[in-house]
Amino acid sequence: MDVYAVRSPILGRVPDPVFTALAETLHAHPGTLVLTGAGISTESGIPDYRGPDGTRRVQPMEHGEFVATSAARQRYWARSFVGWGRFTQAEPNVGHEALARLQRAGRVGAVITQNVDGLHQRAGTREVIELHGSLAEVTCLACGARIDRDFLQALMAEANPGFAALATGTAPDGSQVTSQIRPDGDIVLADAVVEGFVQPVCPYCGSDRVKPDVVFFGGSVPKERVERCFALTDAAPALLVLGTSLQVMSGLRFVRRAASHGIPVLAITRGPVRGQELVTHHLDAPLGSSLAALANWSSNHG
Ligand SMILES: NC(=O)c1ccc[n+]([C@@H]2O[C@H](COP(=O)([O-])OP(=O)(O)OC[C@H]3O[C@@H](n4cnc5c(N)ncnc54)[C@H](O)[C@@H]3O)[C@@H](O)[C@H]2O)c1
Ligand SMILES: [Zn+2]
Repeated sequence: MDVYAVRSPILGRVPDPVFTALAETLHAHPGTLVLTGAGISTESGIPDYRGPDGTRRVQPMEHGEFVATSAARQRYWARSFVGWGRFTQAEPNVGHEALARLQRAGRVGAVITQNVDGLHQRAGTREVIELHGSLAEVTCLACGARIDRDFLQALMAEANPGFAALATGTAPDGSQVTSQIRPDGDIVLADAVVEGFVQPVCPYCGSDRVKPDVVFFGGSVPKERVERCFALTDAAPALLVLGTSLQVMSGLRFVRRAASHGIPVLAITRGPVRGQELVTHHLDAPLGSSLAALANWSSNHG
């Protein structure tokens, strides 16, 4: 394993040895499988949970808490209702776009993403497997209905006319709310504000047990989705890991599986990753400029 930290956001004129080793390995393994995490979307303005020092900065929503109480769902939906406008304004960044270019050129194949923001697809990447689902869809835990998030957002807006100003940063009592979007796509609100929110119910059965179709911490990924990702891993020429700390077993298991088959594992992520010893070349550098440089290198090496 080699690890080399590149400080400059732009890879310098002298080729970095780890960058070159990684680019050459990718080049030797067309159709490389990709695994991405929150780090590829931070340059689009959606924060990650951990950051380069590896410590968790944000307390994410827990599955058990969400399904257990109506109060937890009310809090989630109030915060998420306010954050949705900002979350959906995020645009794919140069990293997402360079990855789509690498795929069009056949350098990489399918992309397994742990992200729930839909930015890979919006950048034109195909064969995206959303391991943890998507915030754009909602399911009813009572009747199983699937509900489009934009539709549910419209229903919430109708039921909560006083909340419209919140999206611009002003609470109903005139106080300012923090405008920082969080990784789950929500915005922190005071308890008193949350209590005034009329939470959404399923338009089909009336239950308040509606949940974004994402895997929260403590939830499990549907078995057939995991099996599909294992099959892709088993058939992969190499695995390229982008912007994930691999602290969650959900992603780490594919790295372990690949390494156990002798499949080379490459990583571009700032800071340490769990399972570091399984990574052949780890480029510790910002993803946007690194992926753009990789796509450029690749097109120059036909
Ligand atoms: N955008 C999203 O959809 C989103 C955002 C946050 C969290 N999540 C969810 O939370 C879980 C968190 O796990 P995770 O491992 O994906 O995230 P994580 O927060 O644990 O790790 C992110 C990693 O990316 C690195 N990173 C951040 N910005 C980077 C950049 N510009 N260039 C290079 N590296 C960068 C960080 O140093 C860190 O190692 C995921 O399962 C995901 O479902 C999703
Ligand atoms: Zn229902």
